[in-house]
Amino acid sequence: MIGRLNHVAIAVPDLEAAIALYRDALGAEVSAPVDQPDHGVVTVFITLPNTKIELLHPLGEESPVAKFLERNPAGGIHHVCYEVADIKAAQDRLRAEGLRVLGEGEPKIGAHGKPVLFLHPKDMAGTLVELEEI
Ligand code: CO
Repeated sequence: MIGRLNHVAIAVPDLEAAIALYRDALGAEVSAPVDQPDHGVVTVFITLPNTKIELLHPLGEESPVAKFLERNPAGGIHHVCYEVADIKAAQDRLRAEGLRVLGEGEPKIGAHGKPVLFLHPKDMAGTLVELEEI
């Protein structure tokens, strides 16, 4: 069911330092920061030949990334995102498999304007997993 790795998201405490690291030290193509108030994050996309890296930095007091950074002050891998062709079909299949979808359990519009779901890390080998309809 799952297809390509769409991105790996890394939560960072210092966005400018992380941008400089990927752009200058690693020579990657790095986007401008974009505020995502609906998601409580600022995102920066790093385009690699075969996938993307999503830098996440907290936006606002209620940011879910702020809590992650409290537990991981130096930052760290926050989630991985796999592509699916049909998010509703994926949701039905995951439910049938007994896997928990976070939030209200329905697909939401994600940071890239596409429908996404997040799966509970405790059901997913300890990893927060995002599925994105492509
Ligand atoms: Co993501």
